[in-house]
Amino acid sequence: MDNFLIHGGQRLQGVIEVSGSKNSSLPILAATLMAEGKTTLNAVPRLSDIDSMTKLISELGCHVHRHEPVSGDIGGGPALNGPLDVEVMDERECQAHYDIVRTMRASICVLGPLLAKRGKAIVSIPGGCSIGDRPVNLHVRGLEKLGAHFRTENGNIVGEVRGRLRGCRMYLGGAQGPTVLGTINVMSAAALAEGETVLVGAACEPEVSDCADLLIKMGARIKGHGTPEIRIEGVDRLVGAEHRVIPDRIECGTFLIAAAITNGELQLKNCNLDQLIAVTDHLEDVGVRFERQNGTVWVKSCRRITPVEMTTQPYPGFPTDLQAQLMALLCLADGISVVTERIFPDRFLHVGELNRMGARVRKEGPTAIIQGVEQLQGATVMASDLRASAALVLAGLVAKGVTRIDRVYHIDRGYEKIEQKLAAVGAHIERVKEGRTALSMSAVA
Ligand code: EPU
Repeated sequence: MDNFLIHGGQRLQGVIEVSGSKNSSLPILAATLMAEGKTTLNAVPRLSDIDSMTKLISELGCHVHRHEPVSGDIGGGPALNGPLDVEVMDERECQAHYDIVRTMRASICVLGPLLAKRGKAIVSIPGGCSIGDRPVNLHVRGLEKLGAHFRTENGNIVGEVRGRLRGCRMYLGGAQGPTVLGTINVMSAAALAEGETVLVGAACEPEVSDCADLLIKMGARIKGHGTPEIRIEGVDRLVGAEHRVIPDRIECGTFLIAAAITNGELQLKNCNLDQLIAVTDHLEDVGVRFERQNGTVWVKSCRRITPVEMTTQPYPGFPTDLQAQLMALLCLADGISVVTERIFPDRFLHVGELNRMGARVRKEGPTAIIQGVEQLQGATVMASDLRASAALVLAGLVAKGVTRIDRVYHIDRGYEKIEQKLAAVGAHIERVKEGRTALSMSAVA
């Protein structure tokens, strides 16, 4: 397994281009299962999760073709990845097997599209994962309300529809609030249902709107996406379309914090700060300054980090996917910060690893109390999930000495070429391939 070696203490300065959104691209790729003809997707990032999703839809009868990149690099990242073409060639297969679902929970996104278009879906039941219990009951309940029938068979959810799905009005919220992928699953299926569907308590995340925008280009009739009430008037068919996925707001937020934690100055291209208002507001409270113009943001940190209180919430609240990264920053604040996790209350595997780097974080239920320290120290730490790994990279950038992060395959799931992007703005970070020893880092250290 690859690992990262980071020699901390470099101030980041320069330009980074933010990639297309992973969490938009995954359900959008699943939605292509419902279209007739070719769909062309632009700005889909090159990530292992995207590879898993393209493998899954290929197994489900799609022809997937990635074009070569269309322009050069900015700041170590791809300015534009080549477009991805998807065309359904064969609709007989209806099963998402365990070997893919266990590596990527977003495989559940094919459930709605398969039921709506093929009348049957067999999806391996996703188990728990490192960020906690992640049920899919709301996906199933929503699709049941549209008329699908479900049973569990040999570890699979088996769904079937007699005839066509039928629209209805339903409440889609759950105990922890709305569900992002559940909303997308039911909204996608409703696009091909008979009659009108109204989703009350829908997730408002930009990734839901991005998928709705693609479906509309395919011929769907959807209104209210981006609000808690989405109205979908079912149509008979959807046809392939061209779409560019939105910038990755979580990657963008991670680089904002990278600038803040290294007391650096970064120019981020291809980002939409309006989708990160809760993040930029908290970062301003911490002492970070922003200037923005036409999809580019200049971010600059002042030396002193002020402690804050933060609670993760559904959009437009502070995203759970940036909780670990903010915590890394708050480890160096001048005082005590309090972070509460409301979406995934067990998403704290990074706490122990940050403490191994000299942080002082105490967990009490869904809350972490962070006593800021003067300096973090390099250590060997283990990546446990995607965003926890990003937090460890951020901590490593500012820690004294060398940090080694093991199991970086977690980070490869969701951050495109992160080490190249960071190295291009001054970080001393190196990927050590499995079985190899670090060469350049020993020179640095
Ligand atoms: N929930 C249920 N029942 C369900 C579905 C969800 O109780 O059927 C609960 C969850 O346990 C959680 C809450 O509802 O407490 C919200 O979960 P949600 O369904 O919104 O999460 P998701 O759609 O499975 C997506 C992202 C996650 C991100 C969450 C929350 C993708 C592929 N995944 O997951 O991203 O944390 O929304 O914003 O879009 C990541 O990128 O690292 C990541 C984990």
